[in-house]
This record gives sequence, structure tokens and C-alpha cells, in this order.
Amino acid sequence: MQKLFIKGKKEISGNIFISGSKNATLPILAASLLANEVKLSNVPFVKDIFTMIELLKFIGIIVKIKKDKKIIELINKKNIKTLAPYKLVKTMRAGVLVLGPLLTKYKKAKVSLPGGCAIGTRPVDLHLFALKKLGAKIKIKDGYIIAEAAKGLKGTKIKFPTISVGATENALLAAFGAKGTTVLSNCAIEPEILDLILFLKKLGSKIKISGRKITVVGKSVIPKKINHKIIFDRIEAGTYLVGGSLLSKKIIIKQIDPRVLKCEIQILKKMGVKITISKNSISISRTKKLKKINLTTKPFPGFPTDLQAQFMVLMTQANGVSQIKENIFENRFMHVPELKRMGAKIEIRNKTAFIQGPTNLNGAEVMATDLRASVSLVLAGLIADNRTIVNRIYHLDRGYEYLEKKLKKCKAEIKRV
Ligand code: EPZ
Repeated sequence: MQKLFIKGKKEISGNIFISGSKNATLPILAASLLANEVKLSNVPFVKDIFTMIELLKFIGIIVKIKKDKKIIELINKKNIKTLAPYKLVKTMRAGVLVLGPLLTKYKKAKVSLPGGCAIGTRPVDLHLFALKKLGAKIKIKDGYIIAEAAKGLKGTKIKFPTISVGATENALLAAFGAKGTTVLSNCAIEPEILDLILFLKKLGSKIKISGRKITVVGKSVIPKKINHKIIFDRIEAGTYLVGGSLLSKKIIIKQIDPRVLKCEIQILKKMGVKITISKNSISISRTKKLKKINLTTKPFPGFPTDLQAQFMVLMTQANGVSQIKENIFENRFMHVPELKRMGAKIEIRNKTAFIQGPTNLNGAEVMATDLRASVSLVLAGLIADNRTIVNRIYHLDRGYEYLEKKLKKCKAEIKRV
């Protein structure tokens, strides 16, 4: 099994080019089921994207990959299977996003329930709630969601009881083919969802957003071919912003839109980090005296849960006791025991982690059970004394494109063995 070996305490400097967003590409790949021909550019070729491609191929889509150009081309065939099997959904929960498009286009779908996950129970009840409101008949049998809408879906008003990224996406995808107008309220409005909306608009849907309310008027004529460039990965950018704040002489994070990172920039500034913002890049340098801060994870435009673990590493270097409350997932502190093994002083009470800083971290052999927890251990390894070995790096490969290549280019001592 592959591991990352990191020799810590090495100053980093240079340019980091941010890849396309994994969490925007996944729903847009699912949305490609609604199209004729699609050409996606700026695609991050990480493991989760390949898993989604496998699923689309299984369903019957022709997929052409041009990895060096970061392009995927997808062509819809006539003979489609309306099935997403367990073996392809269990490894990547986003597989459940094919439910909305299959149901709305082919009037039926059988999609495996994704099952549990390391960061929380992550049910899909809100996805099903929205599809039922649109007129689907749904039953759960043998671990599968079996959905049918013999006469097609019908636009309606849907108010989500709580905000969910995936449920908003599945509802948008289903509303695309529904008759009439769908009004979704209390929606997630993450930048990745706005990218999906842009894609659906190119496919002919009329969509309006006002706050957390999204109005969808079903498709008109679907164009023969559409092109779409995936937005940058704000979580990858945020991860390297933390890396830069911890140990860079000067890192320039490129190929981004800083307006999307408003919350992260504000937090870093509050902590005393030196930041210079340009139109498509941010340059960042290490700060000797970081100030403590209290954060709570929230849906966008709030502080993202996907950056909680990385910012916790930054807090180990701030003066005083910082706090992070994890409000989105019930089990997303798995990096804490590993960070403590490296010398971090962290206590968890209920949903909140209390981080005492500044602490000198020591290299250790560590492992984590999800993507963002794993990358936080890489960041910790980069600032720790001696050598850190990060195990189970297949988690990192699910979502970080060329992680060690990008860090190595900035002179970090990191290698995959
Ligand atoms: C998306 O997951 C992201 N995944 C996650 O990225 C991210 O952490 C999360 O949104 C929150 O921002 C993708 O975009 C592929 P949710 P999703 O539905 O859609 C509960 C990463 O590291 N809920 O917004 O699954 C749920 O349990 C990751 O890239 C229900 O109760 O997240 C959670 O507590 C992992 N019922 C909360 O809502 C439902 O039907 C928010 O989840 C759906 C969700």
C-alpha cells in the first residue's frame, strides 16, 4: 500500500496551480445524462471522477478522456440502463446523483443506497423527499432506491427542511425534465451548485436564483453539443492557503477567483496572515504570530466543513485556545487523535474542538479515514519535526490532483513510496 513520506520544517515557495473542482465535476457528470454531447474542460482527474465515469459507462454513456488536456467528452447513446449498482455507488456517494437525471429522462431508475460513511451517517432522505414532491413513486428494496414516474415528473414547490448540497443537486437535475415550474427553497448555494446551474442553463433550462430560492423551468430543446469549463476547486485552494500560511516564504495560489474564497480570506486575515489578492491569484506568506480564532462550519457562504481539518492544523500554531464547531457532519474529527499523536493539544467537547497553541508538532506515522482529514495530516507533517509517514493515501487520491507534485514544485520534501 502506498504511503507519503514527509520531511517537515522545510520552507516552501513557488506557484501552485489549482485544479478544477471535484465536487462541481461530479454533479455535472451526472447532468451529462440529460445531454446529447458534452465536452468538459478543466476536469480534475482524481479517483472519484474515474469512479463516476465508470458508473456513466455502465449506464451506457460513451466517455472519451483526454487526460493531458484535462478534457472529458461524453456522448449519450440510445440504449441506456437505468441502474446504478451497489459496487459503483458504495465507493463514492455522489453516484446517487444519477437518480434525478435518470428518473426525469427515462421515468424510472434503480440506484443503490450509498450506505454509511466515515464522516457521518449521511442519509439520502432529503434527495428522496424532493423527488417524491416532484411526483416520483419511491420504494426501498434490497438496498436499492427504486423510483418511478410513469407520467413524468411535475414541477412543484419544495422547501428543504435542512440545507443539503446533494439533495439540492438531485432536485435540480430532476426538475430539469419536469413539466412546468419547480420552486426550490432553503437550497444549498455552494459555488459548485452554481456551476451545475450554469451547465443546466447551457442545456436549455431556465433557472433563476434569489438567495436560497431556485426557480427551474424545465428544459426546452436540448442542444446537440455543449462545452463547459469546470470551476476551480475552492477546497484545494483553501488547503494550500493554509499550507502557505504555515510555512511559505511566498506561495502564489493561481487559477482561482478570490471572490469565491471571501470567507477563508477573512479568517486568515483575522488570524494575522499576510495575504495579497489579485484578480486570479492570491499570494500568501508565513506569519510568525498567528492569532487564535473561533470558527463554526456552515453551508456556503459560511466556513466549509471540507476545510475544518486543515484550519485545525493552522490553529495548532496560533497563540491561545482556538475553537472549531463542526455543525455539518457528526463524526468529522477523526484527524484529532492523529494530530494529538504528533503533539497537538486538542480537546473535543460535544461538537467543538478546543485547540491550544502554539505547539511544536513531531513527525509520526499517521493515517486517516477520509480525504480532508488525510490532507490535514500532510499539512501537519510539513510543519513537524523529523519525518511523518501518512498511510492510506488512497483517501488523498480521491480528491487532490497531483498533491505531492504540486508541493514538491514548491520545494517541500515529500515522496510517495
Ligand atoms: C457534499 O456532500 C460534498 N460532496 C461534501 O464533500 C461536503 O462535505 C458536503 O457537501 C458539505 O459541504 C460532494 O459535493 C460530492 P450534504 P453531501 O447533503 O452532498 C445531512 C469532500 O471531502 N443530510 O450537504 O453529501 C448530512 O448527513 C466532501 O469533498 C441528510 O440528513 O452533503 C449532513 O449532515 C465529503 N439527509 C448534512 O445534511 C440527506 O438526504 C449536509 O450534507 C442529505 C444530507
